[in-house]
Amino acid sequence: MRSGRRRRGFLTRVKELVWIDSHLYARPTGARVVVAPPYRARLATPADLARLEADLTEELTATKAELIRRRAADPDHQVAVVTLPTGEVCGYGHITHGRIGDDHLGLDLGRQPGVAHLFDDYVASAHRGNRLQVALLTLRLDAAEARRAQVATILVADTNHASRASVLAAGFRPVLRIVTLRGPAGRRSWALGVRPKEKIRASGSWSPDPR
Ligand SMILES: CC(C)(COP(=O)(O)OP(=O)(O)OC[C@H]1O[C@@H](n2cnc3c(N)ncnc32)[C@H](O)[C@@H]1OP(=O)(O)O)[C@@H](O)C(=O)NCCC(=O)NCCS
Repeated sequence: MRSGRRRRGFLTRVKELVWIDSHLYARPTGARVVVAPPYRARLATPADLARLEADLTEELTATKAELIRRRAADPDHQVAVVTLPTGEVCGYGHITHGRIGDDHLGLDLGRQPGVAHLFDDYVASAHRGNRLQVALLTLRLDAAEARRAQVATILVADTNHASRASVLAAGFRPVLRIVTLRGPAGRRSWALGVRPKEKIRASGSWSPDPR
C-alpha cells in the first residue's frame, strides 16, 4: 500500500518533468548587416529603450522592459533593435560578452572569453515574416566583432522552426546538443558530448556561409 502510494507520487513527479531538445549554434563574428527597407537595425539608443513598452504594448510587460534596460546598462551586455523610420521599435535581441548563459532554458556554460552569446531574440507579431531576426543576428555579429569577440553563439530549441531557419540563414551551424529538463523547480540544461568549450572555440576558425 505504502509502496503503491510512493510509486504514484513518483509518477506524478515524472509527469511534471518536460524534456526539451535544443542546439547551441556558433559561427565566427563579423557580418554584413542584412535588413530589408524600410526597417533599420542598430544597437539600442536610450530613446529606443525608453519606448519599448509603448511600441510593444500588447506583448511586453513593464517588468520585462525594465529588465531589458538593466541589461543594456551592464557593460558586458548589448541590446540590438529593429525599428521603422518613425522610430517604432519592432524587435530586439541581446548579446552577453564572455559568458554563455541562457536563463530561458537554464543553461550555464560559464565564462567563455572571446565569445559573444546572443539571446532573448524577439520580433513583434505584426512585423514577423520580414526576416527581422536575421537583421538582429547580423547586426549583433557586426557589434560582437567590433568588441573583438571571435565566436558568436545562440541557443535554439529544436521545435522553434522560425528561429532555427533565421540562425541557419545567418550562417550559424549547430555545435552542441543541449538537453533541458523543465520541472516544478525551474529549468536546467546540460551540454551533451565531450570538450564543449573546444568545440565552441573551433567554430571561430571556419568560414560561415553565407557572409
Ligand atoms: C523567432 C522570431 C524572432 C522570428 O521572427 P522573424 O524574423 O519575423 O522570422 P520570420 O517569420 O521571417 O521567419 C524566419 C524563417 O523561418 C521560416 N519559418 C517560420 N515559421 C516556420 C515554421 N513553422 N516551420 C518552418 N519554417 C518556418 C520562415 O519561412 C522564414 O524563412 P525564410 O526567410 O526562408 O522564408 C519570432 O517568431 C519571435 O519573436 N518568436 C517568439 C520569440 C522567440 O521564439 N525567439 C527566439 C528565441 S531563440
